[in-house]
Amino acid sequence: MRKIVIAIDGFSACGKSSTAKEVANQLGYNYIDSGAMYRAVTLYFHEHYITSDNPKEVSKALENIDISFNFNERMAFSETYLNGLNVEEEIRKMYISNQVSKISAIPEVRKDMVNQQRKLGKKKGVVMDGRDIGSNVFPNAELKVFMKADLTVRAERRQKELLEKDQLVPLPEIEENLLARDKMDSERKENPLIIPEDAYILDTSELTFPEQVEFVLQLATEKM
Ligand code: C5P
Repeated sequence: MRKIVIAIDGFSACGKSSTAKEVANQLGYNYIDSGAMYRAVTLYFHEHYITSDNPKEVSKALENIDISFNFNERMAFSETYLNGLNVEEEIRKMYISNQVSKISAIPEVRKDMVNQQRKLGKKKGVVMDGRDIGSNVFPNAELKVFMKADLTVRAERRQKELLEKDQLVPLPEIEENLLARDKMDSERKENPLIIPEDAYILDTSELTFPEQVEFVLQLATEKM
């Protein structure tokens, strides 16, 4: 069986990360959360008061940003590190979610992250989730899946995830954030969120988690 690249894109909070993680776990593949990289950059910009999209200032800041992942044994679970510090918990907070789409639309930021993502997936045997993985980072990925789900379902799932981390966020606030991010991600100039022509659509509104995973695994097996 050959090793392949599995690109999972889609709207915010459709279950991309959890599905991608489990698929990677079952295949013994490496899981890369590209959204975590944009979130880590956003945290750095926030901490260093970098608000402008002045290309020079942004490029200088990017030189000082080192993002790495600390993988578990099976490589299917990772925590995000920013300049050597574990930021996994911090980057999931709402104040980062509220800024990340603006930062990820900056061309210099995208160029830098996309380069790193391509390096991380070079050896194949990888599941990467995000917004432009199938359309831009790995246009030749052997399997592309595009995930979507009803807004209410997505917001409820995200609220549950946040609650598990002791963050109580009202549903309307989450819905507003998801809609705003989807809009910005879809409308930005550089590598917008689009449905690649050759992607399989996975609507998770009425699916259980094991069903979602099975959908991807079955396709993956066909492509291997
Ligand atoms: O996947 P997650 O929701 O954590 O991604 C956070 C944000 O990072 C997205 O809303 C989007 O603005 C940005 N992103 C992106 N391209 C990717 C992955 C994430 O622009 N490949």
